Amino acid sequence: MLDKIKTIREEVENITAANKEAVEQLRIKYLSKKGEISALMADFRSVPADKKKEIGQKINELKSFVSEKITQLKEAFEVSEDASITEIDLTRTATPVALGTRHPLSLVKKEILRIFESMGFTIAEGPEIEDDWHVFGSLNFPPDHPARDMQDTFFIGRNPVDVLLRTHTSSVQTRVMEKTQPPIRIVCPGRVYRNEAISARAHCFFHQVEGLYIDKNVSFADLKQVLLGFARQMFGPETKIRLRPSYFPFTEPSAEMDISCDICGGKGCAFCKGTGWVEILGCGMVDPNVLKACGIDPKVYSGYAFGMGIERITNLKYKVKDLRMFSENDIRFLKEFEAAH
Ligand code: PHE
Repeated sequence: MLDKIKTIREEVENITAANKEAVEQLRIKYLSKKGEISALMADFRSVPADKKKEIGQKINELKSFVSEKITQLKEAFEVSEDASITEIDLTRTATPVALGTRHPLSLVKKEILRIFESMGFTIAEGPEIEDDWHVFGSLNFPPDHPARDMQDTFFIGRNPVDVLLRTHTSSVQTRVMEKTQPPIRIVCPGRVYRNEAISARAHCFFHQVEGLYIDKNVSFADLKQVLLGFARQMFGPETKIRLRPSYFPFTEPSAEMDISCDICGGKGCAFCKGTGWVEILGCGMVDPNVLKACGIDPKVYSGYAFGMGIERITNLKYKVKDLRMFSENDIRFLKEFEAAH
């Protein structure tokens, strides 16, 4: 009899059930009136008197062990079935993942591109590793121009000697002009590199958006109107612009554009050094030599180009004083832009 009790106990220790019905089968097998434990009880009658105490205790222990086990199995199914109805909602969104923030330069680039796209410009991109022709030669830089000096430009390797990091995205304009006949109306965003000592006001790389429009009868007035439209959308409808004569090898005439100071509204403050104006971009009419170099007939077509630094525009919009902050990845700085857009 003791053996029988032991066997049942071992059996029950290892039982598992696949569902509620299986648990019920087990209950019937062990605990019902016709079950194995009742059978033991029946046999108990024939146990000799001196063993009754020991065996009786063992049978009782077995009975409570089996009932406990069966209850446990039953509860396990009750919980999981309940959960499938009320707690697991498969249509719910997953645990929210904390989102990063957009980099201020990306925000501003996006805004610049959006404005020019709304005026009919399309986006063109090109390589950061360039050659002399696309960065300088085709853009009317004379062979001895200082920009070609190692002090201004990063050259890569010595052979071939003219592999370099682009110093402006005008190289993308050249690439488009070489392949496409006018009308051309593009904006070229991208990173550019210049061999400068890193400080609050200069870095060895920065970002630009340059623009180019070539068609028949494009005039300086068209350029001015597009830039005024840009400035007002970017900095507000009251913004004024002024163009000062300047020089670039690839444009003639050339100009630099200032906008009325966003901070003091033109009255003069520390930011605009008391002048009421801040410079934001370079521009001009594409030099006929550039058109010729890229296979476009300057007698038929004319065009304008402009180029701006995204860092500069971002500084103006968000009053960031130190250029280095844009590339330090300081999360406290980057997080400030979360609510901006
Ligand atoms: N490429 C010039 C620069 O990098 C900007 C510019 C572009 C000026 C087009 C005039 C016309 O500074």
